[in-house]
Amino acid sequence: MSVSPPKNKIWWNEPVPKSELMWVIIAFVWGLIMFFMMVYWHAYGEQNLSNEAYRITAEDFSAKTQTMVDKYTVREESGYPVVHPPVGEDVYLIARLWQWWPILELEKGKSYRLHLSSLDWMHGFSLQPVNINLQIHPDYEMVITITPTTSGEFGIVCNEYCGIGHHQMLGRMYVVDNEGT
Ligand code: CUA
Repeated sequence: MSVSPPKNKIWWNEPVPKSELMWVIIAFVWGLIMFFMMVYWHAYGEQNLSNEAYRITAEDFSAKTQTMVDKYTVREESGYPVVHPPVGEDVYLIARLWQWWPILELEKGKSYRLHLSSLDWMHGFSLQPVNINLQIHPDYEMVITITPTTSGEFGIVCNEYCGIGHHQMLGRMYVVDNEGT
């Protein structure tokens, strides 16, 4: 405790007590273990997504999404286009104040390249109930390769505070089973 200044002014020249040295070593080794566990968890624990990130402008991302929507919209739901892109296609999802646009409909067991970007400021993509989380930045697109393994309706929650409408920034995604199982 150093409420008053140390009596011995050159305290840094005193030998480090053994017990303190032990703790420094333990903490350092543990830090190293946790560092390499990050790599391990990524590979075997399915803890982190292998996402890619690229620079993109809001205009370009918006145009790409619009092209997909124009080509592959199959129906409308509460004012949102529901888009069913061909299997293997690049699919786009816009985050903006305060919605996820459009509604994607993917097929179970098929792979897609999912592109995500924000047209304004930072949002958080949280896919429920599977708990996939990504930060969605403006001027960058996040790209993940996904293969849905269960069919049904999935919720998208914004988990990055983005202003007055943050709590209403909800979206959904459908996964349909075309094999009918
Ligand atoms: Cu978007 Cu919170």
